[in-house]
Amino acid sequence: MTAIDKAALHGSAAFDVERVRRDFPILDLEVNGKPLVFLDNAASSQMPRAVIDRIVQYQTREHANIHRAVHYLSEKATAEYEAARRKAQAFLNAREEREIIFTSGTTDGINLVAHGFGRKFIGEGDEIILTTLEHHSNIVPWQMLAEEKGAKLRVAPIDDRGELLLDDYRKLFNRRTKLVAMTHVSNALGTINPAKDMIATAHAHGVPVLVDGAQAAPHMAVNVQDLDADFYAFSGHKVCGPTGIGILYGKAALLEKMQPFKGGGDMILSVTFEKTTYNTIPHKFEAGTPPIMGAIALGAALDYVSALGLDAISAHETDLLAHATELVNATPGVRIIGNAERKAAVLSFAVDGVHPHDVGTLLNEEGVAIRTGHHCAQPVMQRFKIPATCRASFAFYNRHDEVDALIAAIRKVQKVFG
Ligand SMILES: Cc1ncc(COP(=O)(O)O)c(C=O)c1O
Repeated sequence: MTAIDKAALHGSAAFDVERVRRDFPILDLEVNGKPLVFLDNAASSQMPRAVIDRIVQYQTREHANIHRAVHYLSEKATAEYEAARRKAQAFLNAREEREIIFTSGTTDGINLVAHGFGRKFIGEGDEIILTTLEHHSNIVPWQMLAEEKGAKLRVAPIDDRGELLLDDYRKLFNRRTKLVAMTHVSNALGTINPAKDMIATAHAHGVPVLVDGAQAAPHMAVNVQDLDADFYAFSGHKVCGPTGIGILYGKAALLEKMQPFKGGGDMILSVTFEKTTYNTIPHKFEAGTPPIMGAIALGAALDYVSALGLDAISAHETDLLAHATELVNATPGVRIIGNAERKAAVLSFAVDGVHPHDVGTLLNEEGVAIRTGHHCAQPVMQRFKIPATCRASFAFYNRHDEVDALIAAIRKVQKVFG
């Protein structure tokens, strides 16, 4: 049986992975004389031809600065930029397009909330609830704020499977709690948090919630109204878009109360040396020339993944993860870190007696790209008392035979070190 036959056998009837792969030119690469097996999608995903073409079209036919001129190209670029905002609105099912802010990525979105909301509404003795599962991008901005304001971070713990201890989370709330900042999906372990329940708990205490959606948006349908999230941040480059662009969703009522994060062009209505009047949302938060090309390309990426269907993507990736989990569990000397009941397409593992960096280096020789290290989630590593893991992370364009190639490469590593 060829690899393609095998993939077709395993793939769901609705999801034609071979057709999808043809959309991604980079997947044809060979690395070290072997076909590239790209399993580092949690760090950054690859870009389909439709998005690459959209970038070329923009740069060759549509580019000018936006919002500030009446000439053809400026109006065209402005219309496409604002159309991309509506695509992001639809992608997240936000109520209003003014609730969508273009940022440079998840980190930027979280920092915007830390400055715009945190510096205004969080003071001395107040508390911010985080979880052990957070990426550094959803820890450090709050730590900086807490240091500046004399506020305190409270951290909801996880169990040995990498699942949040919800009773402990509920016990963290008190009248000083001002915000919850939580990840939807853990980048280090793949755990999917019960975001809707956690948000409901916070709201029962009158506390708003920021959700770090960097690892959720690429893998599952996100509905911010259903979640009732107050803020939701994600990055373009993990959803088949370019780097340097991201989305922050915020409820209009909250965004309106917040102070701007950055000052400069486009976020003002009028300026004198005495006083500046700020623009309406979302422009109040988009100072300076924004990443226009990035926003438009992200719009094309959201169109692309939406056309495939987030439910179909999720089903295919769940299937890949189940296959990988089964094979790893059948491989003596390899241990999965993070065995939550609900996981997205992330497989963190350790190979007995081999440092993760050596595993990563030897896998690269086989053309298999994984990530090794602490994955910018050092508190997760501390929880499991390990310095690092090997992490294979899947995208919808990965195939079953690529999982097989990963396992074969791991077995080769074991032989080398055996
Ligand atoms: C859960 C999570 N949050 C935040 C980030 C930061 O994203 P960015 O570097 O695109 O700002 C990442 C990136 O890996 C992530 O996985």
